[in-house]
Amino acid sequence: MAGAEAQPLRAAVREAERVLADAGVASPRADAELLAAHVLGVPRTRLPLVTEIDPVAADELRRLVRRRAERVPLQHLTGWAAMGGICVAVGPGVFVPRPETELLFAWGLAELQGVRRPVVVDLCTGSGVLGLAVANARPDAEVHAVERDPAALAWARRNANIRAAAGDSRIRLHAGDVADPDLLADLAGMVDLLLCNPPYVPEGTAVPPEVAEHDPEHAVFAGDGGLAVIRDVVDRAARLLRPGGAVGIEHDDGHGEAVPALLASHGAFTEVTDHADLAGRPRFATAHLRRTQTPHSAG
Ligand SMILES: C[S@@+](CC[C@H](N)C(=O)[O-])C[C@H]1O[C@@H](n2cnc3c(N)ncnc32)[C@H](O)[C@@H]1O
Repeated sequence: MAGAEAQPLRAAVREAERVLADAGVASPRADAELLAAHVLGVPRTRLPLVTEIDPVAADELRRLVRRRAERVPLQHLTGWAAMGGICVAVGPGVFVPRPETELLFAWGLAELQGVRRPVVVDLCTGSGVLGLAVANARPDAEVHAVERDPAALAWARRNANIRAAAGDSRIRLHAGDVADPDLLADLAGMVDLLLCNPPYVPEGTAVPPEVAEHDPEHAVFAGDGGLAVIRDVVDRAARLLRPGGAVGIEHDDGHGEAVPALLASHGAFTEVTDHADLAGRPRFATAHLRRTQTPHSAG
């Protein structure tokens, strides 16, 4: 029930943190603060400047904390997720972008240094986040984003429309399947950078409730021990990249050898490298299309 008077914000956040910790939420303090910031309409960094929370806002915070304690993803409650300096709208029906994908994004952006008017492809775009973040960081880029699931594509369209309303309409969305050999056929041999965060968790792997109950299953799990979609991505990259063009693919932390091996054994790629995240876990693999194609690699 709402208290009649404002209460100290610090106490409300402490209580929220306790409830979330008891529910097994992985980062209870951060989530408590982010929910409080959301309710109060301030950035999290400004919370120390707010001393009190009024009864209506305190009630709303308690309601959201209860939902988060039921393991509804934080981003479904706030309605957004951040990456690469932009925010995208997210909710039921679309994969919530993860902080670790920032590493793939940063690598991709670095690859574009010195490339004027780059052509960039984001396969398995989900909310559109990687493609939109690249478009935001590189106003001269032409960005194409591909998604198979109509529900996810609707979120990507919504996010693209938000950016278009702000004057940036350079992202082109495509309904498509990375298994299709003719995907984006008009761009064959022209792409400077291909990024992909595909479904890669081996089927049957135990995942937290936020993932199991709220991320679309086909956005998380892949057959063939988690490599089924990645195999197709490797083939599409070989067809779409220009000679010297770069591909970056996020993968399961158990695939630090398998994904580089797929790239290396294809024959079209050189400079195959795997990259670890900040915790030292294998996180994404990268390669460049050979400048001189071998007969085997034209794929
Ligand atoms: C892990 S989510 C990544 C979404 C986004 N790139 C991100 O980083 O937040 C994978 C996405 O790939 C899509 N997807 C799965 N299989 C696909 C396929 N064969 N072709 C195209 N998209 C696919 C899913 O619907 C989901 O939106």
